[in-house]
Amino acid sequence: MDAHPRVHVSGHPLIQHKLTLLRDVNTEPKKFRELVREVAMLLAYEATADLAVSPRSVTTPLATVEGSQLREKIGLVPILRAGLGMVEGIWDLMPGAEVWHIGLYRDDKTLKPVQYYNKLPVTPTVQVCLVLDPMLATGGSAAATVGILKEWGAQRIKFVGIIAAPEGIKVLSEAHPDVDIYVAAVDKRLTPPPSGPGDPPEGYIVPGLGDAGDRQFGTG
Ligand code: PRP
Ligand code: URA
Repeated sequence: MDAHPRVHVSGHPLIQHKLTLLRDVNTEPKKFRELVREVAMLLAYEATADLAVSPRSVTTPLATVEGSQLREKIGLVPILRAGLGMVEGIWDLMPGAEVWHIGLYRDDKTLKPVQYYNKLPVTPTVQVCLVLDPMLATGGSAAATVGILKEWGAQRIKFVGIIAAPEGIKVLSEAHPDVDIYVAAVDKRLTPPPSGPGDPPEGYIVPGLGDAGDRQFGTG
């Protein structure tokens, strides 16, 4: 994957260690959920490094000092279902954030996203949106979600995932060149349409980690 100015692939050792455990087919759902939570927090730390702050003075037991406070209202936007596991840890880091769920599933045959849940209010209530979804595969779900948020009026949107395929990065960054993409890895490719009964379904990230929703919720 050639460097795209808006794609940030974390090389942090903690993230890479945890990503490797996530990929392991023997990692059970409870551990898998813990790892999704932890990797999401670490990636969100990196993704929020450029948030705006305002000065705020605070009095310590010894003196008054000029400090900072977050200036912008943040919206966490998990894509159901798999994005749900990324919310809680990030929310602990920024308890003032709002959480707006978007429900999309990927149609097995067309691989296109199908929307089934959206309760966004009429006007935007946040300045920065972090779209959360562990897997950026064809990029259809992420691009559709960013489109929904832009139509809502969101000004600044970042995508925080765990693993991306080159195809997904291309689709998301061509549809929305203004969106920064934060991931732990960019993998090799997507699976092609199956040519025999033992083949995996089409559109999975290779090597990836399998189905992120099923592995979190024990439904695989
Ligand atoms: C997975 C994943 C993304 C989407 C990625 O969700 O969590 O939302 O697929 O694929 P794309 O980049 O090709 O659109 P899925 O549709 O399996 O639903 P789930 O999270 O409810 O399991
Ligand atoms: N969705 C997943 O959960 N995993 C993939 O590899 C692709 C889409």
